[in-house]
Amino acid sequence: MEHVDRKKQAVGEKAAEYIQDGMLVGLGSGTTMYYMLQALGDRVKKGLHIRGVPSSVKTEKWANEFGIPLTDFSEVDQLDIAIDGADEIDPAFNLIKGGGGSLLREKIVDMAADRFIVVADDRKQVDRLGAFPLPIEVVQFGWQLTKKNIEALGCSTVLREEDGQVFITNNDNYILDCQFEAIHEPKKLHEQLKQLLGVVETGLFFDIVDDVLIGRDDGVEVLKR
Ligand code: A5P
Repeated sequence: MEHVDRKKQAVGEKAAEYIQDGMLVGLGSGTTMYYMLQALGDRVKKGLHIRGVPSSVKTEKWANEFGIPLTDFSEVDQLDIAIDGADEIDPAFNLIKGGGGSLLREKIVDMAADRFIVVADDRKQVDRLGAFPLPIEVVQFGWQLTKKNIEALGCSTVLREEDGQVFITNNDNYILDCQFEAIHEPKKLHEQLKQLLGVVETGLFFDIVDDVLIGRDDGVEVLKR
């Protein structure tokens, strides 16, 4: 990281302490996770034996740089713990994820874990989800039609771009960033969206978070379900 974000660094380092010898670890994505991976790599160099399952190509690259041994779902079917970032967290531990575009793989990894810990800084805490546009992964074919069907649920959408090009996910799909005014019932909205043809997955995560670590100016706060 060119610029060190102290809150993200503190929370990432704290999360790395939760990982114990022998664990299979789900490795989330995003800049907060970068610091977790760095701290975990330091522990691996000192003798910690773990294997990680990365949730994005970028996380895989960082894990390799930090010397973290990796595996995948051809070898394991359950993880002891997963650690991942978030874009918004409400008081009931519902999340919006996918700001980095990895929501599908993140959900597969996070849901395979016995314990799921979210790492974030206090800017991500909200009373109600929805200020951050909800990322929805859609198949490329007919995305214009899928977009209209999503918008009929009451949002405006933008096809995500990066460096002037349409953003393509690690699964060769597109992302629609969807601005709902406020998301009152995350689970219900997720279910409505999933029924639409062309929608692969939504960035709404619910009922899976165990602990949330929040980075603040004065340290790390641990919130438990
Ligand atoms: C990646 O797709 C996201 O779900 C990230 O976990 C989320 O955007 C948090 O990212 P930062 O840690 O970079 O804020």
